[in-house]
Amino acid sequence: MNRLEELHRRHAEAEQGGGPARQARQHAEGKLSARERIELLLDEGSFEELDKLVTHRCRDFGMDDQVVPGDGFVTGYGRIEGRLVYVFAQDFTVFGGSLSETNALKICKVMDLALKTGAPVIGLNDSGGARIQEGVVSLAGYADIFLRNTLASGVVPQISAIMGPCAGGAVYSPAITDFVFMVDHTSYMFVTGPDVIKTVTHEDVTKETLGGSMTHNSVSGVGHFIAPDDAECLRMIRELLGYLPQNNREDPPRRATSDPSERMDAALDSIVPKDSALPYDIKDVIHRVVDDGEFFEVHEHYARNIVVGFARMDGRSIGIVANQPAFLAGCLDINSSVKGARFVRFCDAFNIPLLTFEDVPGFLPGTEQEFGGIIRHGAKLLFAFAEATVPKITVITRKAYGGAYCVMGSKHIRTDINLAWPSAEIAVMGPEGAVNIVYRRELAAATDYDAARRQKIEEFRDRFANPFVAAERGYIDDVIEPHETRPRVIRALRMLENKVDTMPRKKHGNIPL
Ligand code: HXC
Repeated sequence: MNRLEELHRRHAEAEQGGGPARQARQHAEGKLSARERIELLLDEGSFEELDKLVTHRCRDFGMDDQVVPGDGFVTGYGRIEGRLVYVFAQDFTVFGGSLSETNALKICKVMDLALKTGAPVIGLNDSGGARIQEGVVSLAGYADIFLRNTLASGVVPQISAIMGPCAGGAVYSPAITDFVFMVDHTSYMFVTGPDVIKTVTHEDVTKETLGGSMTHNSVSGVGHFIAPDDAECLRMIRELLGYLPQNNREDPPRRATSDPSERMDAALDSIVPKDSALPYDIKDVIHRVVDDGEFFEVHEHYARNIVVGFARMDGRSIGIVANQPAFLAGCLDINSSVKGARFVRFCDAFNIPLLTFEDVPGFLPGTEQEFGGIIRHGAKLLFAFAEATVPKITVITRKAYGGAYCVMGSKHIRTDINLAWPSAEIAVMGPEGAVNIVYRRELAAATDYDAARRQKIEEFRDRFANPFVAAERGYIDDVIEPHETRPRVIRALRMLENKVDTMPRKKHGNIPL
C-alpha cells in the first residue's frame, strides 16, 4: 500500500470512530457526532485538526485489537466569528469517549497552545471518564488536564459543554472551567453513577434525577446553561464568546449598536411599586437599560434571588449582577452569594465592567442558612466585589439594608460610581424591624401599642429609609430619575474606560471557600 493510500485509510478510520452501529446509536439518542458538533460550533471550514493519527498504547484486555486513529477524541483549532478558539470533542462511539493516556496528551497539547497564544478553550464532553482498561495512566492524564485547567483559569476563557453521560474526570475538568452548558435530556454529570450509588447507599435514583441538566442547573449549580439540543448548545457557546475577550490581557470585543446611548425610558419611573413590600421583576429593568434589550443570562435556573449575566452598553460588554425582588424578595442566601461571587470574579479576571442593580432586604434569616454557613458564603460575595478592580457601577433601585448594603457594590468596597433611584431605602434594617428593637420599652409602655408602633415606623421611614442620608455623605454619588439610568450608566462607563486600580502585592488572597 502506498503512503497516500495508507494516509487516506487512517483518516477514514478516524472519521468513522467506533463504527456505523455505534454512530447510529449516537444519532438515535438525539446526539450529534463529535465531528458534526465541531462543524456546527466553528465558522464554516475553519477547523484544523491535530493528532488525528494518534492511537492509544494499551496492550491489556485485548485492547491491541481495537485501535482507532485519533482514539475517539477530535482536537484542534478554528474560528468563531473570525476569532481563534481551541476545541476538543470526545467521541462517545470509541470506548464511550473515555480518556486514554494519549487522549489526555491531545487535550493538553491544545490547552498549552491556547495558553501560549491567548485564546479560549472549548471542551465538548461526552465521556465515561477515565478509560478503565488503562488504569492509573488514564488517571494521570486527567490530573495533567486538571492542572492545565487550573493554570489557564483567569488567563483564557474555558467553556465546557456536557453533551452525553459524563462521569468521573469528565465532570471534574468541566467543574474547573468557567461555564458549563448542558443539553436537556441527553447529558448527565455525576462523580459516581446510579449503579454505584445503589451498591453503596442502597438509594434508587435515575440518571436524570441524579445528574440531569435541570438537577445541575437548578439544584447543584454545577451547570450554568441548558440547551434543548446539541445544535442550540453550540450556538449558545458562540453567543457567549461574543461577550468575552480572548484572554485576560485584552478588553472584551466592542460591537456597533443602533441603540442610542442617550435613550431614556419613562416606563422605568413606575416599575418600582409604591408599596415597598411588593415585588417587581428586576429583569424588566435590565432589559430596558441595556443595548437593544439583549441580556445573556447565566445560571438562570439557580438561586433565582440573584440575576447575573452579560449585556452590552454603548456596544461594550458588561457583567450585570442584580438582586431579584420577584424571588425570595431578593434576599441574599448561601446559593445566591456563591453564584454572584463566581460571576463577579469571572468578570474581574477578564476585564468586563460590572453593573450592579441593588434591591435587597438583607441576608435570609434562619437556622438552615446559619448552619449552612451563610457567614462564610456571604463573605465570598463581599470578598469578590471588594477585590474586583474592573470599572464598577451600582444603581440602588430600592432596598439596600444591612450587610447587604455593604456587600452589593457599595462605595466603601471601591465601587466607582454609586447611583440611587428616589425609591431607594438605605438603612441598617427595615423600619418594622428597627422600631421593634430601638423602641421596644417605649412601645411596651404605650397605651395604644399598634398606633404608637405605626407612628414610629413612619418616623423611621422618613428619616432613614431614603437615599438622601447616604447621598449627603457622598456614599451615593447622585440620586437619579429612573428614566435616565441608561445614559447615566453609559457616561460613567465611558468615564471609567481607562480605569486602573491595583491589589497589594500577594501570592493570592484567601477567599473564604
Ligand atoms: C472504557 C468505557 C467507559 C470507560 C464506557 N465505556 N465508559 N470504556 N472506560 N470509563 C464503554 C462501554 O464499555 C461501552 O462499550 C461504551 O463505552 C458505551 O457504554 P455504555 O455503558 O453502553 O453506555 P451508556 O449505557 O450510555 O452508559 C454510559 C455511562 C456508563 C453512564 C458513561 O458507560 C458508565 O457508567 N461508564 C463508567 C463510568 C465510570 O465509572 N468511569 C470511571 C470514572 S473515574 P461498547 O464496546 O459496548 O460500545 C474517573 C477518574 C478521574 O474518571 C479522576 C476524577 C477526580
